Amino acid sequence: MAVNTYEKEHFAKLRKLAPECTVLLKKNGAFPLPAAGPVALYGSGARRTVKGGTGSGDVNSRFFATAEWGLEKAGFTITSKNWLDGYDAVREEAHKQFIADIKRKAKESHQMAILVGMGAVMPEPAYELPIDAAGDTAVYVLARNSGEGNDRRPEAGDIRLTETEIRDILTCSREYERFMLVLNVGGVVDLSPVAEVENILILSQLGAVTGRVLADILLGKSVPSGKLAATWSAWEDYAAVGEFGDPDDTRYREGIYVGYRYFDSVGKKPMFPFGYGVTYTDFELGDAYVSIEGTEVTVSVPVKNAGGYQGKEVVQVYVSVPWGKLDQPYQALAGFAKTGLLEPGECETVNVRFAMESLAGYDTETARYILEAGDYVVRVGTSSRDTVACAVVGLDETVTVRQLSNVGGKPDFEDWKPERPVGEPACVVVSETTEPNMPVTEEIDGSAVGGDSGSEYGGMSGLPVLCLDAAAFSSLTWPKPYEASEEARRKAASLTDEQLISLCMGSFGEGLQGIAGVIGSASASVAGAAGETTDKVDGVPNLIMADGPAGLRLAKHYVRDKKGAHAIGNAMPAGMEEFMGSALKAVMKLMSRPPRGEVQDQYCTAIPIGTALAQSWNLELCEACGDLVGEEMERFGIDLWLAPAFNIQRSPLCGRNFEYCSEDPLISGLVGAAVTKGVQKHPGKGTTVKHFCCNNQETNRYVSNSQVSERALREIYLRGFEICISESSPAALMTSYNLLNGTHTSERGDLMKTVLRGEWGYGGLIMTDWVVSLMGAKGRYRMAKPAPTLTAGNDLFMPGSGGDYRQALAALKGKDKEFRLTREEAEYCAAHVIDAAWRMKK
Ligand code: BGC
Repeated sequence: MAVNTYEKEHFAKLRKLAPECTVLLKKNGAFPLPAAGPVALYGSGARRTVKGGTGSGDVNSRFFATAEWGLEKAGFTITSKNWLDGYDAVREEAHKQFIADIKRKAKESHQMAILVGMGAVMPEPAYELPIDAAGDTAVYVLARNSGEGNDRRPEAGDIRLTETEIRDILTCSREYERFMLVLNVGGVVDLSPVAEVENILILSQLGAVTGRVLADILLGKSVPSGKLAATWSAWEDYAAVGEFGDPDDTRYREGIYVGYRYFDSVGKKPMFPFGYGVTYTDFELGDAYVSIEGTEVTVSVPVKNAGGYQGKEVVQVYVSVPWGKLDQPYQALAGFAKTGLLEPGECETVNVRFAMESLAGYDTETARYILEAGDYVVRVGTSSRDTVACAVVGLDETVTVRQLSNVGGKPDFEDWKPERPVGEPACVVVSETTEPNMPVTEEIDGSAVGGDSGSEYGGMSGLPVLCLDAAAFSSLTWPKPYEASEEARRKAASLTDEQLISLCMGSFGEGLQGIAGVIGSASASVAGAAGETTDKVDGVPNLIMADGPAGLRLAKHYVRDKKGAHAIGNAMPAGMEEFMGSALKAVMKLMSRPPRGEVQDQYCTAIPIGTALAQSWNLELCEACGDLVGEEMERFGIDLWLAPAFNIQRSPLCGRNFEYCSEDPLISGLVGAAVTKGVQKHPGKGTTVKHFCCNNQETNRYVSNSQVSERALREIYLRGFEICISESSPAALMTSYNLLNGTHTSERGDLMKTVLRGEWGYGGLIMTDWVVSLMGAKGRYRMAKPAPTLTAGNDLFMPGSGGDYRQALAALKGKDKEFRLTREEAEYCAAHVIDAAWRMKK
């Protein structure tokens, strides 16, 4: 079948955008190359390049550019074909072994192999293949893959490099005149054993264009201009303060000290800090000018391209909030801005804006967001370890920014906090350096405080002080609580009990069709779409949903008949079929038997993974990717995209980090908002932001309990969602599988009614993640159930099943032994489903 014009256009568009998502970690001037020529290509990702992780986010593109293909297409001659063929053979063998191991483990633990294998990372095998291909240029592409259902491991072949990889990378680095280590990864790998390598590029996983972009960057046709959106360090450096990966209870003991907030506050030097990245050229930042109007601070920074190539720089503004009643991290990102493409010698002044109230901390004792009296130090830099204090905003009295009520329950511990507050003697200051391997902490002399301005920091460097009066906060306004429209409420009130429950549940099939839900393919209208709402209630159109976030996930080929669209083959994420037992395979075969008819195609474009989008630090780029997906939604009749996903990358071990954006809530929320704006430019198309909230691990994901303090919940884990909702009004939101302090997030009325509808005035559709009872739960907690989900104000239980329907109906009719659901509660949820359908489809 000929390639469609839209596919070519989307490929070309991404090829231009995606280089900005790559991060150059180290350079010695050997790249870019003057021209394409012979290149020795090695590594697990050279031929088996990863375009995005595994699972529901795996997009069915027609094809994607591997590193090998991309380099050849760009005119390179690969001199290491023998190595690549040899690696293929090793890998095939290791893969067979891996599948057999999973099946054995599943049998031993009496689980379905698909559950044990989903998202499991195949460790890299050991091998001896000669690194001796001709030429003076070598590229080693190291790949890592992960996905939903399993977490990563701090072991060789996953977070750590294997002995084989270390040996081969170091050989390349020593033997070839020009050598680039390329990381085709979705998250952190511990690079400490290969620290001597002088050119390192995080290519990331860029979807369809991955290998093409690599060639463009090597040749300088495109320049990398991304920055890390997570701290990269040796595995041992990550905080061991909080727990990770317990199947029952995981305690987020580190509180708000996540990622760089931890590293900076304890003075630990990471290998590559948050916000870090170089490019082929060099930049100089001029003096920042800081002004304040009302409560909005503007930081204007001149940026000069002082090197010999084109490039873009990201100016980052961090603020150190005074430690008072609340402890505070050394600094937190308050805003950022990226320059345009600057020619050598060209200058641009960028403006970074942030509202002082966005710096407020949550005081659980009084249930208030507060800004405490004191000095707020504004810092400017190009990474979290390269910040220079440039002004102080002085607040003379403590301000209550917002009075709320406590939500989220309580953990069984107190949050960890650093021993000493910032600003006191012997606290840690990050020195000005652009070199990641230099020492970065120094002690402030206690006598340095004081100065003309009366500011604590004034004497330190004569910083300008901007005084902010508490009265400036008196005119702040907050969203009004959301209520469904009167028409929708009237419609809901007119429905029978059965209709109400149908509306609040996905359009499920019984028997074989029901099993489709297991694989996130429960829509009859569009083949391979993840699900849809019912079409059985007159006057309420159904909403069709397809997965993401790295593009639109649909079946590539389908046939349509009277009953709907049928995928040819099954629409399972690649690789999962291998784990199916013979019974499940037979079922899948039956289900995927195509009816007669014209075969049609539905090729979608795989876009860069969430982490790569965040690494661009370019919100326009993120919006453009959303726009591209929105176009494909129009083309294939999808109403809601189950993306973007932006849970916090709390630990490098989370198996789904690649789908998520960052360890920082500000950048996560802004990327989510930009992608949403791009999608929602298309009338009637909407995003479903996920997974709300505290879904930061995959181990035992349906029933694991995240224990989190309310302060960390609000400041770190809810904040990205709050930003995204206030900036872009996503059409829908998906709750997470996990529990929060003992109750499923999907069953927490305080999250739905108090926070989302109340505090944030959220008017979109709220749905659950795909709870499939067949999956079963192991351990201390039960799976989420439909009746308590609806009682909590979670409008839509997805994808639903006959059993779920009957249980909710029985609860509504007062006949369920365990749960009660009132008419009022069911109507409340149904009215939101009706509103969403009318808004999107009428
Ligand atoms: C995933 C969601 C996804 C859903 C539908 C779930 O297993 O956690 O992210 O959107 O399936 O496929």
